[in-house]
Amino acid sequence: MTGNVKIVKAELNDAEEMAKLESLCFDLDNTDIDEMYMIEWKISIGMQNTYKAVLDGTIIGGSVSFPTAKKTWYMDSLFVHPDHQKRGIGRRLRKTAIENAWLRPIITLVNVKKPHLLKFYKSMGFQIREEIDNYFDNGESHYVMALD
Ligand SMILES: CC(C)(COP(=O)(O)OP(=O)(O)OC[C@H]1O[C@@H](n2cnc3c(N)ncnc32)[C@H](O)[C@@H]1OP(=O)(O)O)[C@@H](O)C(=O)NCCC(=O)NCCS
Repeated sequence: MTGNVKIVKAELNDAEEMAKLESLCFDLDNTDIDEMYMIEWKISIGMQNTYKAVLDGTIIGGSVSFPTAKKTWYMDSLFVHPDHQKRGIGRRLRKTAIENAWLRPIITLVNVKKPHLLKFYKSMGFQIREEIDNYFDNGESHYVMALD
């Protein structure tokens, strides 16, 4: 079943479809897809390490990651359509992004209130480096996780 799902590099003309899917997966209000959000998406895709999961021509997941000015690699957004979650697609997306990242360490942030994500990243070899309080606007703490 998930064998039919292809993980391939996203292209610029995927930006709108991916933005809408990300918004749906994170339960964001669709009105948040403004011009700035679309520009950010185009930059992410332009940086050449954004991947999409495609099933029968439809994008059902995405992974955004990129090199940073600190010479680390940052794993940013990861999302899979709710109808297709828990079938290994998120893992395949991240694995492809890791294999194609050309800098180490790879860093990601995990909300301390999401133990399933902590387990997910640990199973891919990430380790907790530190815990940061009040990282985002919502005031929730995050683990900084790294893969060397
Ligand atoms: C996080 C997300 C991308 C995972 O995608 P997915 O395709 O369901 O993940 P996988 O099927 O590859 O699961 C990988 C592992 O994580 C576990 N897992 C994933 N989501 C889980 C959940 N909600 N609850 C419990 N375990 C979960 C799976 O059991 C699996 O572990 P296993 O291989 O030991 O069985 C998806 O749930 C999602 O889009 N969530 C909303 C957006 C989000 O929170 N993104 C992450 C922050 S950037």
